[in-house]
Amino acid sequence: MRWLIPAVGLATLTGCEIPSEVLHRMEDQSKYEYYEASEFWADGRSMRTPPEGTIPRERLVGDPGLTTGRVGAQFVNAFPQAIPVDKALLQLGQKKYNIVCSQCHGVLGDGNSVVAENMGLRLPPSLLELSSKPTGHFYAAINEGYGVMPSFSGELNTRERWAVVAYVRALQSARAGGAQPLPQENR
Ligand code: HEC
Repeated sequence: MRWLIPAVGLATLTGCEIPSEVLHRMEDQSKYEYYEASEFWADGRSMRTPPEGTIPRERLVGDPGLTTGRVGAQFVNAFPQAIPVDKALLQLGQKKYNIVCSQCHGVLGDGNSVVAENMGLRLPPSLLELSSKPTGHFYAAINEGYGVMPSFSGELNTRERWAVVAYVRALQSARAGGAQPLPQENR
């Protein structure tokens, strides 16, 4: 197979048509189209009924507070039981915040960043002024995006999103009154 890539490349460069025996395009491969009849199945249909118990990826199962930051239409205002807020979570949150969020919202969360200085449309806000907003608001902003800000659900898994929220809360309380309210081991 190794010869195939340079051969196809060369054929493309020289403008030759690649014979379909060499490059078996998916659009030409034998397959069923939607609603096409099938002689293979007894009921004559090519589209099969999904196995019992199959659920669509979009349907929520389990704990919507954990996966969406909302219960019904309301934002949750606490961390989900499945996500204990401990030092490991805050350290994970710090790492991920610095990688994914700080270039816009600033390392301190105050909205001061090189990107913010150069953005024209809508500036990344200071996250420190938003401490009165419910915890789920921050999770949902990461998960779904917010206004012109895209979703970061591709960059962060569920635990990492909550970890970032915990770290944003830590930045907010550090600005508000220092680490005094936190237990010693979590400062
Ligand atoms: C590319 C720049 C950029 C990155 C990266 C980014 N944001 Fe944002 N963020 C914005 C902008 C701009 C807005 C304002 C959007 C608007 O108002 O339309 C915003 C809005 C928000 C809001 C809503 C603020 C409000 O008024 O309630 C939150 C919360 C937030 N961002 C958190 C985060 C977190 C957490 C991360 C990292 C996971 C992150 N952002 C990454 C640019 C960014």
